[in-house]
Amino acid sequence: MSVAPMLDWTDRHCRYFHRLLSQRALLYTEMVTTGALLHGDVARHLRFDGSEHPIALQLGGSEPAELAQAARLGQDWGYDEINLNCGCPSERVQRGAFGACLMREPALVADCVKAMVDAVGIPVTVKHRIGVDREDSYAFVRDFVGTVAEAGCTRFIVHARSAWLQGLSPKQNREVPPLRYEMARQLKQDFPRLHIAVNGGIASHEQIAERLAEVDEVMVGREAYHNPWSLAGWDAAFLGGAPRELSREAVEEAMVDYMEREAAEHGTPWYAVARHMLGLRHGLPGARGWRRVWSDHRLKGLPAREVLAMARQAPPVAAEVD
Ligand SMILES: Cc1cc2nc3c(=O)[nH]c(=O)nc-3n(C[C@H](O)[C@H](O)[C@H](O)COP(=O)(O)O)c2cc1C
Repeated sequence: MSVAPMLDWTDRHCRYFHRLLSQRALLYTEMVTTGALLHGDVARHLRFDGSEHPIALQLGGSEPAELAQAARLGQDWGYDEINLNCGCPSERVQRGAFGACLMREPALVADCVKAMVDAVGIPVTVKHRIGVDREDSYAFVRDFVGTVAEAGCTRFIVHARSAWLQGLSPKQNREVPPLRYEMARQLKQDFPRLHIAVNGGIASHEQIAERLAEVDEVMVGREAYHNPWSLAGWDAAFLGGAPRELSREAVEEAMVDYMEREAAEHGTPWYAVARHMLGLRHGLPGARGWRRVWSDHRLKGLPAREVLAMARQAPPVAAEVD
């Protein structure tokens, strides 16, 4: 099981929170471009808490030497895996000629992977789509995976829908192109030695179990973010962990400890952390009132612990349907 890389969402605060909920799932960073890493503030992009292991750094780029350098930085900072993004459809990324459009250039992706494999001792993995625009036959993704595997990638995360680079926003590209899980299943059958993870539209434990019967791993994105409590069952259900006594209150409490530590050590405001846990009470009575307090920027001058007390006493919001 893994939690997907999500730009602006899976920052280190979010991952710290997710780790409290699952001790075993693999966590991904947001995508970091080679440019940002090689010419920007390295610590800002790569710092993470020791508790976040196992953790993968996702890179965006298409220049082998730069990716090798970035991968080495990732290894030096203690990441457990380097992942290359070959699935992002955004226009900005297309202009940089990486992300999903790299699927049209398997030989270049192979060069990128080889450069990274030669540079580091940790696994180098690839996250990709099943097709790009009209190139959506099984042969297209099979040849992509085959070529990239020869360069030394042994683990592929298959977002099981095509990227439509013309006319769809990134958000629409996560919803409109149809999901085709059978493509991932077929990849596993054709490349039994490769570790194949499937991603896209998977939410419930039942759906996870169904996909795990076909491939090696399931990666969950939006459901993990919007309904983080769903992670709390993963370790025991799918990852060989013992059931844990865990409550939402205890997790919230631990997050307040973390907010206090972050504020003292790095000057981080509590709301930069709290924004990731707003789904913690998803589906429970009173969730909206609770969430409204934790997202109320008028309270930003207060210490996190006072906000916690207010959130717990929040009156139900009128017309609450949670
Ligand atoms: C807000 C947001 C940001 C995302 N950023 C990235 C990213 O940086 N790298 C990436 O490979 N995928 C990114 N994705 C795609 C997710 O990793 C995932 O492939 C997609 O959401 C489908 O999985 P899901 O249906 O479980 O959410 C992002 C998705 C969302 C919702």
